[in-house]
Amino acid sequence: MADPGDRGLSFRQDYFGDPAGRAALVDLLQDIFSIDVSLLDQFGGPDPTSMPFGYFNDAGVCVANFSAFSMPVVINGRSVKAAGFQSGAVRPGWRGRGLYRDLMRRAFAWTDTQGFELGLLLTEKPALYEPYGFRTIPQHCFVGKPPSVLPEQPPAATLSLPGDGEAIKSLLLERTPVSRHFAVTKQMEMFLLNACFDPDIRLSRLAAEDAIVAWKLDGSCLRLLDVVGKSMPSLASIIASLGVAPDRIETCFPADLLDWAGAATPYQGYTVLMMRGAAADDITKPVMLSPMAEF
Ligand SMILES: CC(C)(COP(=O)(O)OP(=O)(O)OC[C@H]1O[C@@H](n2cnc3c(N)ncnc32)[C@H](O)[C@@H]1OP(=O)(O)O)[C@@H](O)C(=O)NCCC(=O)NCCS
Repeated sequence: MADPGDRGLSFRQDYFGDPAGRAALVDLLQDIFSIDVSLLDQFGGPDPTSMPFGYFNDAGVCVANFSAFSMPVVINGRSVKAAGFQSGAVRPGWRGRGLYRDLMRRAFAWTDTQGFELGLLLTEKPALYEPYGFRTIPQHCFVGKPPSVLPEQPPAATLSLPGDGEAIKSLLLERTPVSRHFAVTKQMEMFLLNACFDPDIRLSRLAAEDAIVAWKLDGSCLRLLDVVGKSMPSLASIIASLGVAPDRIETCFPADLLDWAGAATPYQGYTVLMMRGAAADDITKPVMLSPMAEF
């Protein structure tokens, strides 16, 4: 492709130290995806591991961006150094000129030099990433009946954002992965953003076991989105603490640590989960990325 500099564009990498640069990315994501990532400012700002790659015009407008960030995961009990890719967008007037190809190549090369053994992304356009070694990993949620016997539990406390942000952040930093089969081990910003974006997500803190449950009630179906704790409570304890009486349970993550077994059921989201790297071959059981880690 022609040098983007020929068109008056400047390439910038790792530019979040410049508030104007970050504000220009906030504008790009607002314009293209109608999301406001500046909501993160009330929780301490963007993910410090984020590595943005972008093109800017002379007026400081971000016309294209693609970012990598650290998103360590556990796969079959093994900790894997993984990078997530997000915030991929090109302004309409600049599309079809190879800007995104250039940014993808730079971002993938950077994560390779940083020793990430796995790349992850969620996309509606898998064909865009297949040439770079990404493949679709089918996702499954886990469905079944609630346990028949529930223990006595004190009621959970309802949490809300931004007020309870600090308490949620500190538990996110100390959490144990929600599954040993596949789960994110450390990621704070996406949990907070996703909780802000979707008003139907409820956050409850279990009193007996120090854990926060992200959940939804859809009729009589209890949908568990994530459980953040230093240890994992059983599903029976969670249901008893939430004070609900569902007749169907769906977990949006592998349920191997919940002392309960649900049937793996193909999950159709509007995006697909893609992975790149040999570590993806270690995924041998049905998995789902918690919606609270979606990016
Ligand atoms: C998708 C998008 C980022 C592409 O940007 P772009 O600068 O036009 O892309 P490029 O010109 O660099 O093209 C890169 C490659 O992607 C391919 N491509 C472009 N749009 C595509 C699409 N919608 N689906 C599949 N492939 C696509 C191109 O054919 C090109 O392939 P090549 O390298 O084999 O020639 C841009 O259209 C956009 O911002 N769309 C809206 C937001 C979005 O969907 N972002 C991706 C989130 S996962």
